[in-house]
Amino acid sequence: MSAHSKFLCNCLCVTRSEVVNAVRKRGAETLTDIQNLTHASTGCRRCLPLVSEVLKKELEGKRVEGLQLKIDFDS
Ligand code: FES
Repeated sequence: MSAHSKFLCNCLCVTRSEVVNAVRKRGAETLTDIQNLTHASTGCRRCLPLVSEVLKKELEGKRVEGLQLKIDFDS
């Protein structure tokens, strides 16, 4: 993947924001969810490490948000 590409997955023309939205708005929690919702990483799979990295970061962000909500409810 080119460093200047607007796509995270060039084969299926999937952008980073589509992967992020799949996690944030469509409930994706696994790579299979991302593949089913966006079709990213269903071609040559060269983008798999990048897609996995975005998924991991988004899931970590969700856990922090959940923890923050719990703290808000407890106080
Ligand atoms: S670059 Fe994503 S499947 Fe080929």
